Amino acid sequence: MLLQFLICLSWLTSASAALEAKPGCQPTCGNVKIPYPFGVGSKCSIHPSYSIDCNKSYNPHRPFLSTKNLQVVSISQTEVRISNQAAVSCHDDLTKINYTQTNLSGTPYTFSDRKNEFYGVGCNTVALIGGLVGNRSYVGGCISYCETKDSVKADMNCSGIGCCQTPIPEGLQLFETYVGSIEENITNITSFGNCTYGFMAEQTKYQFSVSDLQYDRFINKIKDVPVVLDWAIGENLTCEKALQDPETFACKYKNATCYNASNTYGYRCNCPSGYEGNPYLIDGCQDVNECEDHNDNPCASICTNNLGKYTCSCPKGEHGDGMKNGTGCTRNDKKFPMIIVTLGVSLGLLCLLLCISWLYFSLKKRKLVKLREKFFRQNGGLLLKRKISSSHESGVESAKLFTSNELKLATNNYDESRILGKGGFGTVYKGILPDKRIVAIKKSKLVDKSQTEQFINEVEILIQVNHRNVVKLLGCCLENEVPLLVYEYISNGNLYEHIHNISRMSSISWEDRLRIAAETAGALAYLHSAASIPVIHRDVKSANILLEGNYTAKVADFGASRLVPLDQTQITTLVQGTLGYLDPEDETPEFERSEEERYLATYFIVSLKENRLFQLLEPRIIEEGKSKQIIAYSELAKRCLNLKGEKRPTMKEVAMELEGLRRFEMHPGALGRNDDSTSLQSESNDICYVELSSYKDDASGQYSMEEMPAKVPPR
Ligand SMILES: *[C@@H]1O[C@H](CO)[C@@H](O)[C@H](O)[C@H]1NC(C)=O
Ligand SMILES: *[C@@H]1O[C@H](CO)[C@@H](O)[C@H](O)[C@H]1NC(C)=O
Ligand SMILES: *[C@@H]1O[C@H](CO)[C@@H](O)[C@H](O)[C@H]1NC(C)=O
Ligand SMILES: *[C@@H]1O[C@H](CO)[C@@H](O)[C@H](O)[C@H]1NC(C)=O
Ligand SMILES: *[C@@H]1O[C@H](CO)[C@@H](O)[C@H](O)[C@H]1NC(C)=O
Ligand SMILES: *[C@@H]1O[C@H](CO)[C@@H](O)[C@H](O)[C@H]1NC(C)=O
Ligand SMILES: *[C@@H]1O[C@H](CO)[C@@H](O)[C@H](O)[C@H]1NC(C)=O
Ligand SMILES: *[C@@H]1O[C@H](CO)[C@@H](O)[C@H](O)[C@H]1NC(C)=O
Ligand SMILES: *[C@@H]1O[C@H](CO)[C@@H](O)[C@H](O)[C@H]1NC(C)=O
Ligand SMILES: *[C@@H]1O[C@H](CO)[C@@H](O)[C@H](O)[C@H]1NC(C)=O
Ligand SMILES: *[C@@H]1O[C@H](CO)[C@@H](O)[C@H](O)[C@H]1NC(C)=O
Ligand SMILES: *[C@@H]1O[C@H](CO)[C@@H](O)[C@H](O)[C@H]1NC(C)=O
Repeated sequence: MLLQFLICLSWLTSASAALEAKPGCQPTCGNVKIPYPFGVGSKCSIHPSYSIDCNKSYNPHRPFLSTKNLQVVSISQTEVRISNQAAVSCHDDLTKINYTQTNLSGTPYTFSDRKNEFYGVGCNTVALIGGLVGNRSYVGGCISYCETKDSVKADMNCSGIGCCQTPIPEGLQLFETYVGSIEENITNITSFGNCTYGFMAEQTKYQFSVSDLQYDRFINKIKDVPVVLDWAIGENLTCEKALQDPETFACKYKNATCYNASNTYGYRCNCPSGYEGNPYLIDGCQDVNECEDHNDNPCASICTNNLGKYTCSCPKGEHGDGMKNGTGCTRNDKKFPMIIVTLGVSLGLLCLLLCISWLYFSLKKRKLVKLREKFFRQNGGLLLKRKISSSHESGVESAKLFTSNELKLATNNYDESRILGKGGFGTVYKGILPDKRIVAIKKSKLVDKSQTEQFINEVEILIQVNHRNVVKLLGCCLENEVPLLVYEYISNGNLYEHIHNISRMSSISWEDRLRIAAETAGALAYLHSAASIPVIHRDVKSANILLEGNYTAKVADFGASRLVPLDQTQITTLVQGTLGYLDPEDETPEFERSEEERYLATYFIVSLKENRLFQLLEPRIIEEGKSKQIIAYSELAKRCLNLKGEKRPTMKEVAMELEGLRRFEMHPGALGRNDDSTSLQSESNDICYVELSSYKDDASGQYSMEEMPAKVPPR
């Protein structure tokens, strides 16, 4: 149904496009289309001048201009072609001058000066045309002559031999044709033609030939050669004038354009561009489907018709404007897909590379993690972890296990600028933890793997040591090959720096020195006895006594310290350990300069014996200290330097005596508690010896191993 309807509709539209006559009027007469404003019958034309009579007595029917009775051959938008009427003169009646007249005055038609010519044909011919242009008269004409038939053959063009032609003026509406002979003695010509003709004709349609000189042939031929008339609307009106009266304005199609007729009187109408049809009818113009024109499709490939216009485009994979007279459509270069391919390939390669590197790095990371785990195990991390968890259960403060990443971050990846000190033991870095706590991180030199358990024990014990004069061990990191120890950070350097640096020397008063000594002794005494397990430092020296801002002493670096052995077998360890406290600086050449300095302890004892003690001391101390106090202090030092362990005071004793000395400074008279010391002496008198000898930068070579006590201090 729908299909039929569509077919029907398309037939209707195409039919209406062909029908340019006014609706309800006869569209054709015979073979001739009669478009509006022309029309057969008075009501079918716009004006009587455009009225057509269709004479049905002919077959096919013949249309005539009603007003002038001229037969119409065809009608177009600007032209009407009418049948020809020639003036003929034949030589049977040579005196006669034959003429014709065509009168278009008072009609909208003029003879087209561009398309028509005036012709004279014959061998003895004078052809004249006379008429009116507007109200001015006009006369023109031409002469044609030929002596022999051969001379006619030589000139087939209409240039004076057998045929002549002349243009006509613009605006001609009325003309008469006269044709006659130049001379009357024509006997010589009659042999090949005795007639002459004068006529107007459409120039492209008339081609002269010799046979035209014969009457019958010419009459037959001239029937098909029309005369072209230009026509317009509105007689002598211009568009502007005509528009003033919309009722009579002929351009009825809404968007039709009007233009002045250039070669005739009046104006004409046109369909808008992209439309075709009859602009004189209200619905006369139809969109031109440029794409349907198979012969003259403007597009090279894809054509899309729109109202009044069209667009050309190219199929996928081609480019160009798609116009036949433009760039047309050309296949896209293979370059484009090549770019995509190369892009794809390079992207793929990039992805692959990324994947591989990701894999590589993750494997490396895994390896690193494994390595860390290995080190952790190797360094006794599991053991420590167990201990920590068990101590957590028992509510004892315990160590923190730092990860290597945490410490790496804290030390800015062990940056040079973070180094606080370097020595035989390893390197100490300053670290800043995420909670802004400043810590000292000690990276030891390689640790003897066989002593792992002991190391862990020690760390565990040291973490529990909580004394205000002992540098606190906060935790450790076991994920590296070398365990890292994390201590609290002490800001004011160590005692060694303060004593041996001339500029700083004056800053520590006698009172402070005495306090530092007392605090140090207190801390060591605590380690020896008060801590849960006795701990012997074994490397007490000025460099290992750190100072805070207010010169509070902090004993540091238990690098060589060992727990006091529990049984006899471990005594050897203790003995070995005692070797460790040798101040490494003793071996530097600097200390070999002076025998007296090298054997400072001996020097000190000798000076004391010879009453030269005050020559040994810094002037500031002599100034600040009471001589009695200084002598008492020196006596204590002397006792500590005793070669026999039993004769040396214990650390606890030393601490108490130093406290006493300090109190004496404040309350003179409280000095001297020497009697008590004997009772304590038996506890761990070796320790005083060890610590003090070290403290005084002693060259321990003086003391033999045999002199070291093998006695185990009680726990
Ligand atoms: C049609 O043409 C014939 C022959 O020329 C003529 O006799 C007749 O009157 C014409 N009819 C009309 C209506 O003009
Ligand atoms: C010329 O005219 C004469 C007299 O009418 C006639 O006899 C003759 O046949 C004509 N010649 C030609 C070629 O038509
Ligand atoms: C001109 O000649 C033609 C044919 O020879 C004739 O029919 C016509 O009447 C003539 N015209 C005049 C005005 O003599
Ligand atoms: C031409 O025709 C018009 C109107 O039809 C008329 O007025 C005029 O006199 C005619 N002219 C000639 C020379 O016949
Ligand atoms: C032709 O008409 C114009 C006015 O249209 C007039 O001025 C002129 O005199 C006329 N000429 C002749 C020869 O009639
Ligand atoms: C007629 O004239 C045209 C050019 O105007 C020329 O080409 C042609 O050859 C001529 N024909 C003859 C038969 O002379
Ligand atoms: C025409 O020419 C012939 C000879 O060619 C001559 O006898 C005759 O008298 C001429 N006629 C006229 C009217 O001149
Ligand atoms: C006509 O032709 C004859 C011979 O064919 C010739 O003698 C005569 O001169 C010619 N007449 C003219 C006027 O040319
Ligand atoms: C147009 O022609 C008419 C007569 O045909 C005349 O009366 C009128 O004045 C003309 N108008 C113009 C503008 O020429
Ligand atoms: C007439 O032209 C206007 C503007 O150019 C347009 O919007 C309108 O659709 C056209 N009408 C027709 C019937 O073509
Ligand atoms: C028509 O002609 C008049 C006068 O010659 C002129 O003013 C006008 O612009 C023309 N109109 C068009 C559409 O050409
Ligand atoms: C060619 O293109 C131009 C516009 O670019 C157009 O005006 C012209 O009519 C086109 N010619 C043909 C033959 O299509």
